[in-house]
Amino acid sequence: MIYLVDRLRLLSKLTGWALLKLPLSLLSIVVWLGKKLQGLLVFLGLLIWDFGLSLSNVVTPRLKKGSVVKEGKAGYKRIWPEFIQRQPGDSRSPCPGLNALANHGILPRDGRNITKEMFQKALEDAFNFSPTLTRNTTNTVEALYGHSVIDLEHLCCHNIIEHDGSLTRRDAWFEPNQTIPDRHLIEDLLNSASGPVSAEHPEGHITPMDLSRQLSLRFAHSKKENPVFSISTSQKFFAASNSSLLYEVFHGDVATLRTVLNEERLPENFETSLRTRNGYTILDFTLRSIEIALGVHTVKL
Ligand code: HEM
Repeated sequence: MIYLVDRLRLLSKLTGWALLKLPLSLLSIVVWLGKKLQGLLVFLGLLIWDFGLSLSNVVTPRLKKGSVVKEGKAGYKRIWPEFIQRQPGDSRSPCPGLNALANHGILPRDGRNITKEMFQKALEDAFNFSPTLTRNTTNTVEALYGHSVIDLEHLCCHNIIEHDGSLTRRDAWFEPNQTIPDRHLIEDLLNSASGPVSAEHPEGHITPMDLSRQLSLRFAHSKKENPVFSISTSQKFFAASNSSLLYEVFHGDVATLRTVLNEERLPENFETSLRTRNGYTILDFTLRSIEIALGVHTVKL
């Protein structure tokens, strides 16, 4: 009898709990699914918009040299805001491109409290990224790091985008401060340039194939030397994507990259080599990143 009463009490307790909790759990599942669906729809919308921009880029003439940055924006007529080296307490990232933008005050100079809109505006105005690429990039950053407002140092978090085997930084195992560029690695990268010297590239230029080869070598060296080396497929793709920006924004130009990568500064008279009328699209970026990623092979040392 006591056993039966006890079981009934337990059953009613569980029923009460289920009636209270289940609707809440179901609601949170519905909210979660709704958010995923919304994210997917936003992504699909961006892809359709991006395809339109890419098509229109094919049929419209490229912007004239010297006129990529619009009037009223930082970098108009190739005049950039003053370069000021990072000050103690400033926040910086493992990304030479974003650090350079902060060093010129195009992103906040202290590298802190950067909103998605600030990133979008800086990349669109200074480097001629399309609005679709900047939105997709900032949405990805928010999803990966869990904040919509970030300090540049958040990007140092190991094994999200920051990875072992980088072209400009020693692995986190050897250099925990990933904001510091490594001069030897950068010199190796610049020396790998096989693109010929020309009026446009007085010291030659790095090609996508050079970038694939350098990444292959860096991964092999890191694997051999770093006792905690790791790299996932998505990080390999991030590595190729960062390299594709290095190639596209600076046209792989050795002289420009020497300044950008070592000093995180835009050289005098700099202008991005991205000159399509609607900006550099997700499609352009993805195709270039795939090209570089496909050229990365396992190298035995
Ligand atoms: C919101 C946009 C961006 C984010 C979140 C971002 C993030 C990062 C991160 C986390 C790294 C470190 C990866 C590693 O461990 O090697 C990196 C590297 C790099 N990024 Fe960016 N980046 C952005 C935009 C740019 C832009 C606009 C450029 C070019 C102008 C650029 C060029 C590079 C280069 C050249 C590297 C060095 C790659 C290496 O050392 O292997 N990035 N970026």
